Amino acid sequence: MPAARLEIKGLSAGYGPTRVLENVSFTAEAGSRIAVLGRNGVGKTTLFATLAGQTRRYEGTIRLDDADLTGMESAQRAWNGLGFVPQSRSIFPSLTVEENLFVGLKGRPHSALAEAYEMFPRLYERRANSGAKLSGGEQQMLSTARTILGKPRVLLLDEPLEGLAPVICEELMAAFTRLASSGEMTILLVEQRIQSALDFAERVIILERGRVVWDGSSEQLAADRDTVDQLLGVSSLAH
Ligand SMILES: Nc1ncnc2c1ncn2[C@@H]1O[C@H](COP(=O)(O)OP(=O)(O)OP(=O)(O)O)[C@@H](O)[C@H]1O
Ligand SMILES: [Mg+2]
Repeated sequence: MPAARLEIKGLSAGYGPTRVLENVSFTAEAGSRIAVLGRNGVGKTTLFATLAGQTRRYEGTIRLDDADLTGMESAQRAWNGLGFVPQSRSIFPSLTVEENLFVGLKGRPHSALAEAYEMFPRLYERRANSGAKLSGGEQQMLSTARTILGKPRVLLLDEPLEGLAPVICEELMAAFTRLASSGEMTILLVEQRIQSALDFAERVIILERGRVVWDGSSEQLAADRDTVDQLLGVSSLAH
C-alpha cells in the first residue's frame, strides 16, 4: 500500500475540560515529510495523540485518504494505516526484543520481522535481550520498528532523538529518510533538534499555544532567522 494523504480540518482537542489544540488545519500530502515544531508545551504531543485517538476531541475532522478517522477508536485508526511512535517509547521491558516485535506484526507472518531487522540491524543482534536491557537508542529503534511492522501509511514520530547521542541520532534519521523515500509512508516528525528536523522535512508546521502559527517550506524557515528565534528559541539552528 502506498503512502496516504492526511487531512486535518478545524481540529480542537485537549484533556477533559482543558483545551490544548485550537482549530488546527493542514494537509500532509501522500509521501511528504513534515516537521511539526514549537517550544515545550505548545501541543505537539497532543496533536499526535489526538490523531491517534488518545485525547478528547471537541471539533474538527481527521481523514486518512478516503477513511474518516474522526470517530474511530485508536486501534481502528491503526488498522486504517496510522502509525504512532510515542515520545515515551512504550516498549515492554520484560519481553525480549523479538517478543516486542511480535506485538507489532498484527497478524503478519513472523518472516516479516526481517523488515525490522533490515532497518535496524542492531535489533537483530539484541533480539534475545529483554527490553529493559536496551540503550535509549535501541529502545527508540524497537519502538519505531514495532510500529513500522504494522505497515502504516502515515507515520507519526514524536521526538525520536530525545536524549540520544549524536551518532545514534544520525543512524535513526538515516533510517527515517530511507522509510520516507520508499514512497510507502507519509512521515510527520516532532523534534527539538531543529537542524535535524529541517534536514529531514520538506515542510514545517510550527505550533504555538495549540495553534498553527507558521506553515511553509524548510528552506523558507532556514532562511528566516527571526521566525526561528521568535517561535523556536534563539540558537535553535546550527550556525
Ligand atoms: N494528560 C494531560 N492532561 C492534562 N493536560 C495535559 C496532559 N498532557 C499534556 N497536557 C498539557 O497540554 C499542553 C500541551 O502539552 P504537550 O505535551 O502536547 O506539549 P508538547 O509541545 O508536546 O511539549 P514537549 O515539547 O515538552 O514535549 C501543556 O500545557 C500540558 O501541560
Ligand atoms: Mg511532546
